[in-house]
Amino acid sequence: MTDPILIKDHIRQIPDFPKPGILFYDISTLLAHGPAWRATVDRLADAIGKMRPDKLIGIESRGFLVAAPVAYRLGCGFVMVRKRGKLPGSVIPHSYELEYGTDTVEIQTDAVKPHERVVVLDDLLATGGTMRAAIELLRKVGADVVAAAFVIELNFLGGRHRLDVPVTSIVSYDH
Ligand code: PRP
Ligand code: MG
Repeated sequence: MTDPILIKDHIRQIPDFPKPGILFYDISTLLAHGPAWRATVDRLADAIGKMRPDKLIGIESRGFLVAAPVAYRLGCGFVMVRKRGKLPGSVIPHSYELEYGTDTVEIQTDAVKPHERVVVLDDLLATGGTMRAAIELLRKVGADVVAAAFVIELNFLGGRHRLDVPVTSIVSYDH
């Protein structure tokens, strides 16, 4: 059956945020529209369920909004990759290069067991730097990263070419 809801109609584009020249893809309006958000989660769940994941990983912060409901729908675990200093107890860090300087993401040491199948989710694929760092972190803890999944993919930034796992997105933009 064809889904009549056009997800793109509910994604707002805001020019010059967070700085001049940047076009921001805002999922607030998608989250606020019950049927459109449910259709988004359902489409991700349909695609990801076929991959038989043990756990879904959400990248702080907007990735949490996406990964948690999909994990609920599939009945699999949900695990957070967070920015440095946010997770309690024993953590594994991973530092990565930004345009200017470096950043660090962390995961709790016991959150994923070696060889568990995980799919990593985020709201948006731009350059791919954030997802790439999360995948590298997950491999440090021995996870089997089977895919990366997004609500939005910006094709013109070529992020998927920086990732060595299959990439799924619900909507994409060419410019
Ligand atoms: C945004 C977005 C992705 C990332 C995409 O997160 O939510 O996580 O950037 O960019 P990339 O593919 O070029 O790495 P942001 O760092 O703005 O933080 P937030 O999710 O906490 O708002
Ligand atoms: Mg983010």
